[in-house]
Amino acid sequence: MLHTFILEQIRRQGDAGLSFADFMQQCLYHPSYGYYMQQRERIGKKGDFYTSSSVHHVFGVLLARQLAQMFEILAMPDFTIVEQGAGEGHLALDVLDELKRREPEVYAALDYCIVEISPDNRTRQAHLLAEHECVRWATLEQLKSVRGCFISNELVDAFPVHVVEKHAGKLYEVRVIEDDGAFVEKLFPASAALRMHFDSLGVEPVEGNRAELCPDAATWMQQVAEILERGFVITVDYGYPAAELYAPFRLNGTLMCYAQHTTNENPYQNVGQQDITAHVDFTLLEQTGARAGLVPLYFGEQYRFLMGLGFVEELMRLQAQTTDPGAAMALRMTLKNLIVPDSGMGDTFKVLIQGRGVGEPELLCSRSVADIAASFTMDAPK
Ligand SMILES: C[S@@+](CC[C@H](N)C(=O)[O-])C[C@H]1O[C@@H](n2cnc3c(N)ncnc32)[C@H](O)[C@@H]1O
Repeated sequence: MLHTFILEQIRRQGDAGLSFADFMQQCLYHPSYGYYMQQRERIGKKGDFYTSSSVHHVFGVLLARQLAQMFEILAMPDFTIVEQGAGEGHLALDVLDELKRREPEVYAALDYCIVEISPDNRTRQAHLLAEHECVRWATLEQLKSVRGCFISNELVDAFPVHVVEKHAGKLYEVRVIEDDGAFVEKLFPASAALRMHFDSLGVEPVEGNRAELCPDAATWMQQVAEILERGFVITVDYGYPAAELYAPFRLNGTLMCYAQHTTNENPYQNVGQQDITAHVDFTLLEQTGARAGLVPLYFGEQYRFLMGLGFVEELMRLQAQTTDPGAAMALRMTLKNLIVPDSGMGDTFKVLIQGRGVGEPELLCSRSVADIAASFTMDAPK
């Protein structure tokens, strides 16, 4: 169905076919057949991939601590959290449960607003979050003068990207055309807009390499900055600063498809039945935010962020609650995924925090690993 729809769109465009971003937009967000728009499992064991919030509720618990400190810094009676791209609502549930349990003052001031493109996910979120009356849904366009914090986990990697290649010093755009009913790629000289994207970034792909770029990420950051009157933006996602994202060794870019917990690099198969993502350019988010008045306050790997917020202490607390060595081991293995550098989510996943009208506070998450070790030494029995 989706395959036929996209082929018809390509035919309507003539020789130039569709930009990869338009192709990806349809694969993921076609109103009826797009991957995120269908009624189906996407996240967790029965789905196609795990996210940090689906791994364990510790992720949301620790994020709630950072949010509680932000509430204190803002020192205002009301506190709006806008979560965009909330999936099935697990992160929201973990944050809200933790704030209700441990930070009743923050919970009482809370307006938790979800911006979610997928009707299926909105239904799942409403079901999961039914007990929390402070939750509402809105579009980004409906929000104005937000005072509080924008949060997102793995939102930006789901925005459509353009794909480019550099040959003989010239930048080319990958476009999707038809060959006898199949999707194939064809290179066209890159448009001025795509070339300007790299000019303004100050970094570009090297000779012979393929890479992605996501102008939608910049548009989104600009929009968020305009809506935020005072407060913070926390963006968690896998990605790199531009110099690393477009480094010479990254020959084929970072585009990846996910289906039933396996990955592949072919976005032209199983259209609408697999997720398509690309790593996030954090320099682009930081630069766009800075131009719109957002001050970068923190950028680091997810493992540092979680350690700073008390990951180790929380792990020890949870372990102490179980007497079963098997269960304790399973807990350690599960939580390891959130912080291990190579195969896990600890290193590739980054956290960017920007602020407006908040000064340059020392955020809880920036507590250094040395400070964590010192706190254990101080607590150790004599
Ligand atoms: C990979 S999932 C991440 C889910 C969730 N944050 C988690 O940690 O489990 C991406 C989410 O972003 C949503 N999404 C994608 N583009 C969006 C947009 N422009 N506005 C709002 N939600 C969007 C998808 O429907 C989905 O809920």
